[in-house]
Amino acid sequence: MNETGSRDNVRTLEHYLQGTAPEIVKVYLAIAQSALRLSDELPFHTGMTGGVNPSGDQQAQLDIFSNDLFCDSLLASGVVGQVASEEMEQPRESGPLREHGLSVAMDPLDGSSNIATNNPLGSIFGIWRGPLPQPGRSLLASLFVTYGPTLTLTLTAGKKVAQFVAVRSGPHRGSYVLANDGMVLPDTPEVYGIGGERGKWTPRVEAFVQTLEKRGMKLRYGGTFIGDFNQVLKRGGLFAYPELTNKPHGKLRVLYESAPVGFLAELAGGASSDGRRSLLEVEPRALAETSPCYVGSRGLLRELQSAFVRA
Ligand code: AHG
Ligand code: MN
Ligand code: MN
Repeated sequence: MNETGSRDNVRTLEHYLQGTAPEIVKVYLAIAQSALRLSDELPFHTGMTGGVNPSGDQQAQLDIFSNDLFCDSLLASGVVGQVASEEMEQPRESGPLREHGLSVAMDPLDGSSNIATNNPLGSIFGIWRGPLPQPGRSLLASLFVTYGPTLTLTLTAGKKVAQFVAVRSGPHRGSYVLANDGMVLPDTPEVYGIGGERGKWTPRVEAFVQTLEKRGMKLRYGGTFIGDFNQVLKRGGLFAYPELTNKPHGKLRVLYESAPVGFLAELAGGASSDGRRSLLEVEPRALAETSPCYVGSRGLLRELQSAFVRA
């Protein structure tokens, strides 16, 4: 499958990953297989659990199902010593690999409030070496999954960004094939989506969003970071879950959400920021620490940071 929809000359994920460090390949393939399984299971776990996660969010059955599925397959890969997750107070560990093996921080199901309405969902993974927390600057690789009309994997191991689509029928059934290699986040901004209640945006966030509206950018907000970011990656623009008057550190978790996506955005030629510096420079002291998150076209992010300094 390529961008024109052709099934000729397909390049599978496994083929594409020849030349990538074998440990990273094992992690990618564990995630890829589990994402197929999760996608098949989505219709069967639609309720709430009644519990809350360490951030205080209500946990859906799918949050727990996806968390356990990815944890088990990552720890069974033989290269992962620690899995930290938005849905767990403490990381799950594989003793001998804890210090020097790979560590994965994940949001196993991003956008769980969209389950009930059948809007896009995602999964986010950051891959480091050694115990977490660590800053985004030390990431070795990151990956996100979209469960939308198609199941896609978007990944980087520190160089190019590539996107793959899962094939569900025909000779390549059950594999992921390359849909987009060397992705470039356009510098001409087209779309924007800003989370949080508008009345709670700080004055400098409100002022900057008004400049986006005046220049004719289109509002696209779906309530799943990954779904919204994927649009920005393809079309250029800005996704933000900004500082709020009642939540100065925003909502998105640095390790589980914003650093892995910031890493990928920067490697696609875009930029990320906490309002002052790259999200990759944020040094989380706790696993579930949050920061304001701005990610998108490089020129626009430069404008945002300058406007924030002047405000
Ligand atoms: P999660 O479902 O993993 O907790 O993440 C939800 C996040 C993110 O995906 C989205 O951008 C944001 O929360 C939406 O928040 P609002 O509903 O407050 O806009
Ligand atoms: Mn999330
Ligand atoms: Mn989540």
